[in-house]
Amino acid sequence: MLVVKEIKELQERIEREKEEGRTVGFVPTMGALHPGHLSLVEKAEQQADFVVVSIFVNPTQFNDKKDLTNYPRTLDLDLELLTGTACQLVFAPEVATMYPQEDTRQFNFGKLEQVMEGQFRPGHFNGVAQVVSKLFDMTKPHKAFFGQKDFQQLVIIKNLAKQLNLPIEIVACPTMREEDGLAMSSRNQRLTDEQRKNAPHIYQTLTEARNKAHEMSVKEVKAWVVETIDQNEFLQTEYFEITDDEYLNTVESWNSPLNKVGCIAVHCGEVRLIDNIVFE
Ligand code: PAF
Repeated sequence: MLVVKEIKELQERIEREKEEGRTVGFVPTMGALHPGHLSLVEKAEQQADFVVVSIFVNPTQFNDKKDLTNYPRTLDLDLELLTGTACQLVFAPEVATMYPQEDTRQFNFGKLEQVMEGQFRPGHFNGVAQVVSKLFDMTKPHKAFFGQKDFQQLVIIKNLAKQLNLPIEIVACPTMREEDGLAMSSRNQRLTDEQRKNAPHIYQTLTEARNKAHEMSVKEVKAWVVETIDQNEFLQTEYFEITDDEYLNTVESWNSPLNKVGCIAVHCGEVRLIDNIVFE
């Protein structure tokens, strides 16, 4: 597994693979890797010949500077973890390499960026689009792999690829969970033991909410989820919304023919956790 920091090295290696007829699968990450990331690498291995992983904590997507400072950085451990996988090339650039000058581009995703995460993390998706568009341009993969845990991000990245006419297939990969149901996230490392014990209450509530959908209206289920989660003294819901999976419009009725996804953000002490569930 080759680890490179410079764009030129990255591009030369990828070019060589492509010249030899190999397809490229790309997994962008911010490091602090866990089995969820490794499952993306596995998916990439199944669908492409040459797997590239990027590790870069992107400053432009953090609207909260404290969050950026506290974000775990574990490059040596990440590389160790990747050594046992199908990843053949790691791109781990410095901030100055990715942003030789300020990125002033403003993307417009309309409603997709205004709801849910967009309401509470202004500028976040613009930062994600800035870095992902740069990474896509540098790696020019055939396919790129993203987790469904960051559901809104996935919808926005599909939209980004369309807006920019990129010939890249965006592959959605299932959320990986701990045994107790907690969605795997690099942020979980920052939970105290007590918070960690209580955090699975989020997914347990979402799962129960799916059953409640047979007996309650959409509005009632939404209120029930917030009330149930907030009864736990370690958890504070920021939002819970049930939307369709393409335009992210609020779903008003279970009779809607659209696919319905319940998306949630919850504060657990200083750590902000997100998760989602598909309502059948
Ligand atoms: O999902 C993430 O880890 C990040 O938002 C991404 C896509 C790597 C961009 O920095």
